[in-house]
Amino acid sequence: MTDRLKIEGLSKRFAAPVLNQVGLQIARGSVHGLVGENGAGKSTLINIVSGLLAADAGEISLNGKAYPRSSRRKALDHGVALASQELSLIETLSVAENILLSDLPGQSLGIARVQSRARARELMDLVGLVEVSTDDRLSTLTLAQKQLVELAKALSMPEANCQLLILDEPTSALTGPQADRLHEIIRDRADAGLSVLYVSHRLEDVLQVCDEVSVLRDGAIALCAPCSALTSNDLIKAMSGEALMVHKDDNSKTPGEPCLRVAQLATDIFPEPISLCCHRGEILGIAGLAGSGRSELLHSIFGLSAESKGSVLLMDAIDNHEIVIDSPSQAVKNGIALIAEDRKSQGIFADKSVSMNSTVAELGKLRGALSTILPRRERQVTEELIDRLKVKCEGPLQSIDRLSGGNQQKVLIARWLQARANVWLLDEPTRGVDVTSKLAIHEQLRKLRDDGAALLMVSSELEELMALCDRILVLSNGKQVAEFQRGQWSKEMLLEAAFSEYTHRAVRAAC
Ligand SMILES: Nc1ncnc2c1ncn2[C@@H]1O[C@H](COP(=O)(O)OP(=O)(O)OP(=O)(O)O)[C@@H](O)[C@H]1O
Ligand SMILES: [Mg+2]
Repeated sequence: MTDRLKIEGLSKRFAAPVLNQVGLQIARGSVHGLVGENGAGKSTLINIVSGLLAADAGEISLNGKAYPRSSRRKALDHGVALASQELSLIETLSVAENILLSDLPGQSLGIARVQSRARARELMDLVGLVEVSTDDRLSTLTLAQKQLVELAKALSMPEANCQLLILDEPTSALTGPQADRLHEIIRDRADAGLSVLYVSHRLEDVLQVCDEVSVLRDGAIALCAPCSALTSNDLIKAMSGEALMVHKDDNSKTPGEPCLRVAQLATDIFPEPISLCCHRGEILGIAGLAGSGRSELLHSIFGLSAESKGSVLLMDAIDNHEIVIDSPSQAVKNGIALIAEDRKSQGIFADKSVSMNSTVAELGKLRGALSTILPRRERQVTEELIDRLKVKCEGPLQSIDRLSGGNQQKVLIARWLQARANVWLLDEPTRGVDVTSKLAIHEQLRKLRDDGAALLMVSSELEELMALCDRILVLSNGKQVAEFQRGQWSKEMLLEAAFSEYTHRAVRAAC
């Protein structure tokens, strides 16, 4: 039978070669996984197939016919739907307008037609965006909600037209139940004949949802095999060339003195005030479903919520006096770092260099006698950070928006490693980061803890929290519902607590 998608000899270089003679085939109704380390070229390949980028060489055919991939419009006309890794949405438009952007009537962008709105609603319900209205402005949504809008947009192509659905890290901001829902949709559509190209760093998900998987390494396909024959360790070996070194945490350390005290913190997100204490030498995890208030808690601690009540106190390490944290500048001045979830809008300076992005939090240390930044010193510091976190880039002067998503994330972590923060507020610190780099980041976080820092960390992956944290606090629908010490928790207990404060409808919304 003819392949739905056939790629032969595909090559692309930027400053250095990224794809070198890549071949890939996807059958009708097959879900094909594509994995590889950060910077391996997955998004580049996807961008070429979906018409966003031109290849230097190679052939692509759809249903046996050469396929002119010269523009996104043409690719859409040929039935190639895409959900991008770095979300292709417009913040100032409504949710419905974003979902139906490629189908909007040319003359009126303001979706007057009841039909269009109903179609958007149907797609939003399908992906689980039940609590959001079609008219909500995109900029008011959380990152997870935006990712669901991106998916609804990709699924908006009529099933009869859609030949190939490409999903570039579709679950990177989603919780387990949200990802499960997407996987069910993918399997249903594939059973009806749709072909899917699925890129993810969540290797267990790939093995569960895909029929076959290809591994990209050094610009070429290093392995292509049915998922039933593989384990995630096989994939890691093919991605990096070596088996994964899993860190064994001895967990024998007891946390130090209280470092950050949050007392009776209240905003309109939290129905009851929240109090917690994070100690020096401790990683405190925050678990909860999407929308449970996890990110808002970190933002409020950092002083970003104008309307919050209660107090955030930092204990001075030297004389133990209390410092009130009530604004982001106060937080930064006292060594509190926030790594925000949405790196595109809240983390990176998109048109600036890797160097500027990694040193911006601590420029004071790089100043010379006349208060000017010392370029050689800045460069040296950046090169050390690039090496420490294995950031794949051309060098300190490359613009950060030319880096792959996972490598941008590593630069953000590098920024605060360089600034030597005492308290770390981490919102999904390993989003979009490959398995090996994720372990490297975990190691850095453990080292910070062992050196006496206090870390508060939100993650949608319970496995990540369970691997890293000394204690986990669970939020459910804005309430602090449970707290577990290491050794006391199980995945089931954490999930049960996370669901505990939701009514039936709210559970649907949060899932
Ligand atoms: N526009 C560009 N200009 C220069 N280099 C680029 C550009 N786009 C991508 N690259 C480089 O190509 C390489 C592959 O990037 P790509 O985004 O395809 O990786 P990826 O496999 O999707 O990684 P990730 O898992 O982090 O998303 C990277 O080294 C990146 O820096
Ligand atoms: Mg990518």
